[in-house]
Formats: sequence, structure tokens, C-alpha cells
Amino acid sequence: MKYIRGISVKNYRVLRDISIGTITFSPKQNTENPLPFRSGDPLTPLTVVIGRNGYGKSTLYDAFGFIGDCLRSNTEYACTLRGGFDNIVSNGQNKQENSKLEFQILYDDILYTLCIASDKYNIPYVYAETLSHINSAFNTSVSMNFFVSCGEGKVVSPETDSVSDIKLADPRRLVLSTLGNLNQFPDIVKFRQFLENWYLSYFKPDAARATPLSGSQRRLASNGNNLANVIRYWENEHNARLNQLIDEVIKPILGITRIETKTTEDGRLLLRFFETDNNRPFYVSQMSDGTLKLVAYMLLLDDPDPPPFICFEEPENGLYHRLLGIFIDEIRKRCISSGGSQFFITTHQPYLVDALKPEEVWILEKNADGFASVRRASEDTIVRNMAAEGIPLGALWFSEYLDNFDQNNL
Ligand SMILES: Nc1ncnc2c1ncn2[C@@H]1O[C@H](COP(=O)(O)OP(=O)(O)OP(=O)(O)O)[C@@H](O)[C@H]1O
Ligand SMILES: [Mg+2]
Repeated sequence: MKYIRGISVKNYRVLRDISIGTITFSPKQNTENPLPFRSGDPLTPLTVVIGRNGYGKSTLYDAFGFIGDCLRSNTEYACTLRGGFDNIVSNGQNKQENSKLEFQILYDDILYTLCIASDKYNIPYVYAETLSHINSAFNTSVSMNFFVSCGEGKVVSPETDSVSDIKLADPRRLVLSTLGNLNQFPDIVKFRQFLENWYLSYFKPDAARATPLSGSQRRLASNGNNLANVIRYWENEHNARLNQLIDEVIKPILGITRIETKTTEDGRLLLRFFETDNNRPFYVSQMSDGTLKLVAYMLLLDDPDPPPFICFEEPENGLYHRLLGIFIDEIRKRCISSGGSQFFITTHQPYLVDALKPEEVWILEKNADGFASVRRASEDTIVRNMAAEGIPLGALWFSEYLDNFDQNNL
């Protein structure tokens, strides 16, 4: 089972230096064993981050989106979307020396690192980028796929095991997007596809109320504005599965017995919902925010070929608190351990945290220097023991065992 074992982020806004799960460290130069070493237990298939306002939850979430934007377009575009490089880089960093954004992703035995700096014209570019395979026993061997530093580097051709020089024509584009599009580098292609398929939800009920142009679409847009197209796709391709999802999950919790699309005269798709014992449909414009959100989320979760990494930011917004445990149960059924996806969630809701295990929960805090740090709930022996005795984690959070809410410190 391949999954993200760890992620680290450096100099990204309030996240000056944080990591979750297993990450690797470069050895100091001139050491006897110049191989990376690792630290930390791997992430679980479901990772949930909590923390007070302004402690970096959305920033971490956005860091995932940032990497995706760099990959799909380029570093300059990804920074511009976020107000420019200087706005993103952690405050107080020496602009010349230290102002580099750094990311590390350990996915199974694949280690990907990306470092972005800005040039003298303030254009963000790929300062360094590497992809390598680390022997799962670690500390034993590392095989490089490619590395690039300041526009130049090397790539290993898997067929011949030969090493070739590479030189970037556009330093704003990731090597991963370029080499990851060439069939002679199948491992790089696979990793590029994996990263490109990450799904970050920014669901907006009003966007989902749109009546889009007719046509079926497989993947839900991040704001949900193609919900009707996705339902049309399910009607065409997975009708039995759609009915099963409605009967087993959507009907018991939302009371909806049928969902269907209808093409309007002007070629748009109208989404209609039928409620229990009622043959009169409700149109998408009439449906509640929470209903639309849960239907959209369930379609995403139940996709026969789901995104490998799915991120939800504060999914509790608009959902009845008692549904959160059910939502987490549905996620668990579709986790990577059951052949599904890996999940990342940020939340403020103890009811959601009630359904979690200590090793799944990460707590963001802010240090005296104003930057975030993160720790795993399972690192705390008291929390671990109390959870083992059956005390729900949300209740522990409420009782300030997870984080300490010091009002005098506000
Ligand atoms: N360039 C930067 N350098 C350092 N800190 C920054 C930078 N940009 C923003 N911040 C800090 O990060 C905070 C925003 O963090 P973020 O939005 O991730 O918090 P959050 O945990 O999602 O909060 P909420 O629960 O309110 O949504 C800002 O309030 C500010 O303190
Ligand atoms: Mg936030």
C-alpha cells in the first residue's frame, strides 16, 4: 500500500519549519555515511490537524495546493495566486539568504524535495528539486531519479541506468512536470500523476447550485460547481453504484431517496432530489447547504477510482454535529488501507475528533517567535492512556488535554 508517509514544509508563511509523519534529513557534509536518515512515525491513512485560529491549519492545507499549482503551471503563477513570493515566505527571513520555500514529501519509498527561491527580479524559480528512491530499510541506499540545482542537474535513465545532464529552459517550471511527461521515465511519470491527482476541497454550496452546461464529468471540481455533471456521469457510468450509495448512506442520513439530472431546453443540467415518500422533486436551488455538501463529499469518497489524496478543510461547517462521526466512518471504509484514498482534514470540531485515534491527530501550536510547531496527540502518554481506556479524543480536547487554551495568553 503506497501512501504519503510524511511531509515537511519550511518558510511557508506561519510554517517556518514543520513536519508531520516520517521525514528525512540530509546528513552533514563530510560525514562518514552521506545518506539521508529519517525521523518520526509515518502518517496514518487519515490525518487530522487541529489548532487555534491563526495557528496554520489553512496554511498547511494551502501548502498542498501550492505544490499542485507549481506542478500544473509554474512557480511564478503559484506565488502570484497567493500575493507573490514575498507575501508567502515566512516573515522575518533574510530576503537574500534564507528566503526559500522548501517542501519534502515522502511517498512510500519515493522522496521528493522542492525548494523555491526568488531571483533578482523577484520571480520565483526552482532553486532545487530532487526525486529519489530510498530503500525501505533506510540508511542503506538511495537511488536518484533526478536532481536539479539552480537550473542544472542530472537524470538517471532507468533502462540503461545511465546518467544524463539536464538544463532547464524555464526555471519556473518543475522538472517533475517536464520529465514526468516522458514515457522513458515511468517512475517520474507515476509520481507526477500521483501529485497532480491530489484533491483539495473548497466546496461552496452556492457554486454547487449552478446549472452547468450539459455533459458528464468524472471528477468533482474543488468548489463543487460541476455537481450536476458528476451526477450525470454516475447515472451514465455507475448507475447501480449511485443507487446503492443513496440507499445505504445518503437516504439514512439525509432522507433523500433519489437524485437525478434533467437536461433543460437550453442544454443545461438541472439536479433534482427526491425526499422520502414524496414524489415532488426539490431542485438544487432549493436544497440545503449541508445536504449538497454531504452528497458532493460522498460522491467523491465513493468514486470507483478516487483521488489518491483527499483534503477537506473544516468539513464540519454546515453539517449536523452527529453526522461527523458517520462521515469519518465513511472515510475509514474508503481509506487507503481498504484500497481507497489517503485523507487530510483540518477541523475545529470535537465531535469529529471524537471519532479519531491519537496517532491520527496533529496539534498545531504557535511558538513565542510567532511561528507554528506541530505535535502528534499520541506523543502524550496521558492522552494515549486515556484514549486506550475509551475516553473519546474530542472530550479530551474539550477538557484541554490536547491543547492548553490559556485565556490569559490571548
Ligand atoms: N508570511 C507570513 N509569515 C509568518 N506568518 C504568517 C505569514 N502570513 C500569514 N502568517 C500568519 O498565519 C496566520 C494565518 O494562519 P492560518 O490561516 O493557516 O490559520 P488557521 O489555523 O487556518 O486559522 P483559522 O482556524 O482561523 O482558520 C496569520 O494570522 C498570520 O499570523
Ligand atoms: Mg483556517
